Formats: sequence, structure tokens, C-alpha cells
Amino acid sequence: MTASQTLKRLVAPLVDPAVYDFWAQKVHPTLSWDRCLARVVERHVEARDTVSLTLKPNGLFTGFQPGQHLNVTVEVNGVRLTRSYSPSDSLHKDGRIRLTIKAIAQGKVSQHLVHSCQIGDVVELGSAYGDMTLPEEPHAWLFVAAGSGITPIMSLLNTLTQKPLQQPASLIYWARTRADLCFSEALHKMTENDPLLKVHTVLTREPNRLENELDGHPRESLFRNLVPDLERRRIYACGPHGFVQSVESLLADKAALFQAEAFSPSPVVTTAGAPVNLFLSKSNISVQIPSGVPLLEALEAEGLKPAYGCRMGICNTCSCQKQLGTTTDTRNGNTFSEPGAVRLCINSANSDLTLEL
Ligand SMILES: Cc1cc2nc3c(=O)[nH]c(=O)nc-3n(C[C@H](O)[C@H](O)[C@H](O)COP(=O)(O)OP(=O)(O)OC[C@H]3O[C@@H](n4cnc5c(N)ncnc54)[C@H](O)[C@@H]3O)c2cc1C
Ligand code: FES
Repeated sequence: MTASQTLKRLVAPLVDPAVYDFWAQKVHPTLSWDRCLARVVERHVEARDTVSLTLKPNGLFTGFQPGQHLNVTVEVNGVRLTRSYSPSDSLHKDGRIRLTIKAIAQGKVSQHLVHSCQIGDVVELGSAYGDMTLPEEPHAWLFVAAGSGITPIMSLLNTLTQKPLQQPASLIYWARTRADLCFSEALHKMTENDPLLKVHTVLTREPNRLENELDGHPRESLFRNLVPDLERRRIYACGPHGFVQSVESLLADKAALFQAEAFSPSPVVTTAGAPVNLFLSKSNISVQIPSGVPLLEALEAEGLKPAYGCRMGICNTCSCQKQLGTTTDTRNGNTFSEPGAVRLCINSANSDLTLEL
């Protein structure tokens, strides 16, 4: 433990973090007692409706591994909102991080980050999560990306190609049109520098495709033509839920390893069941909610605003302690009656519940 960490621990009982932050931020906008704040230092238009923001975090940032994601909290119209974004580069030597964000129609956070966020603005970062990272040993790779799914894959490719590849690596990258493609120049340079790297783009709605651009949706023949040695590749796939599901059904049992991450929640069909009583012990609020519906949705329907990030059970932002009652995991129907942590976005009530919220 460093001297400043020891000092901080000693004075912690005397400090109100909110008061400390208020005064410290008059000195520098990212100074904080316990929050990782990051300042936007660069803004670059990457593609249609897509910007890259370079952030300089304060000393509380604990880093990330290429392929991981960060929860980003911003204030939009006075409301704090959290969403997950993936660094699209390896961690810069000076501690800077690059995020690449596509504005989703009517999306609260993505519209704010793409269209309103300016150099000098401050955002809050959570700890990195995700296990689509690079193992130490070299492998033959196939990366499959659609839309914003390219961001963690770009971070992986930037890292992999810092040294000459020892085994082949391919990227197959789906976008709607050429104007939606991110990092075209950087990817082109990477392939020029390393003959073992192949990049293929597939455009689903481009009216004027070039000779080297493919079209259509994921299909086995396309993967087999572009990557004849599929069986020896490790595959990482990333993109919207439906895309990832279709790639998984085509490739999961044909490769050395298959791992995928979806950026949009699966449309889980849930049926509202009998009403149950939910008591939020910290805020002393009692509500009636339907059983069978994810707790996050049920609470939002009551006008409450629990924190959330991914809405699909991977980032842990919505996690809270269940003190009493039984919940059901909406993804697989498993029930839990012991007290313990519960993720509100993927669990529904099965009985009356008490949550530490
Ligand atoms: C692990 C992970 C990593 C991610 N990394 C990135 C990234 O690097 N770059 C990036 O641009 N996005 C990324 N996302 C998506 C991002 O977290 C947000 O979901 C997205 O920016 C939309 O948030 P919003 O507040 O703008 O939309 P909201 O206000 O939450 O939603 C508005 C509407 O858009 C729909 N919607 C929400 N999310 C998506 C989505 N991802 N695709 C399509 N429709 C959606 C909702 O159903 C709703 O109808 C990632 C998501 C996850 C789970
Ligand atoms: S919001 Fe990410 S785990 Fe629930």
C-alpha cells in the first residue's frame, strides 16, 4: 500500500466523499475521493452517427484488458444514466482510453455521447468486465463483428498486431453500408503490415458495392469460403443479439473455440403472473409487482429508477442483495430462495420479496 493510500484509509472515516468531490472538482474536474472520473480529451467522427471519444481517467481507473467493456455514467437532462461501452483500442501508454459509440435512434446515452458530448466534459467509469480477452499463447483467430461489435474486436486486433502474428487471423465485419464502416484505414494498414491478417467486409444495404465487398447475412458457405480452416480457429463474435445468435448457430460447433457477446438485450418473452409484494428495505418503499417479469422492468413500471448497464446480466450494475423471497432467472427458469446477490435485469419475483435497495 502506498503512503497516500495509507493516509486515505486513515482519514476516510472523517471524509464525506460528496463534499470532498464538490471542493476537489473546483481544482480539477476529474478529482474525486472514490469515483473514477474521466475527461473527454479528443473527439473524432469515425463513421455515420459514430464517434470515437478519447478519455483521460483520474488515478482511480483500474485499467482494462483488450476485449473488455466499461460502464460509462453520464448525466443527461439532469438524470444519471449508465451504459456499457468497449474500448476500441489498447490502453494508451499515457493512460488514455478510446471509446467508439454509435448513436441509436432515440437512445438516451448514445445520442448524448455522439451529438452533445464535447471535449472537456467529464464522464464516470466503472471497472472493466468481460472475458473475451486474449490468452497468452498464440492461436489462429476468426473475429466476427457487426455494427458496434467491431469496438472490442478492434482493441483485440490492435493488441494482437503490435507484434507480427504467428498464426493467421481473419476479421469478417458486417455493416449496413460503406459509410457505416469504422476504422477502415487502420484495418487496411494492419493488413498491409501483416500478411497473416485478412479483413473482409460485408455490406447488407450498400447500393454500390465494390468488388472486394461482400453482401448478405451470415451463412456457412461465406465463412467456409473466406476461412477454409475454420476448425482450427478460435472465434470471437460480437454484435447485436440476433446477429450473434445466428453466427453462434452456424459456427459454435465447428471451431476450436467459440465465444460471443451481444450488445443488445435478447427479446426475452416473459409473462406477467400473479402480483407479489416487494419491499425495498433501504428506501422503505413497498410496491406490488407482477411475478414473472424482470425485477428491473417491474420497478421501472412503478416509476422507480434502479441503476442498470447492460440489461442482460453481464455487467452487474443492477445487482443488489435479496434479503427474503424466491426469484427466478428469466433466462433459464432456475429459482433461488437463499438470501444473496440478485441481478434485477435477469431475475423475476417468484414470491413476496425484500431487496436491499
Ligand atoms: C457489453 C456491451 C458493450 C457495448 N459496447 C458498445 C460500444 O462499444 N459502442 C456502442 O456504440 N455501443 C455499445 N454497447 C451498447 C450500449 O451499451 C447501449 O446499449 C447503446 O449505446 C444504446 O444506449 P442508449 O442509452 O442510447 O439507448 P436506450 O435509451 O437505452 O434505448 C433506446 C432504444 O434503443 C434500443 N437499444 C438499446 N440498446 C441497443 C443496441 N445496442 N442496439 C440496438 N438497439 C438498442 C432499446 O431497446 C430502445 O428501444 C454495448 C453494450 C454492451 C452490453
Ligand atoms: S444491468 Fe448489467 S447485469 Fe443487470
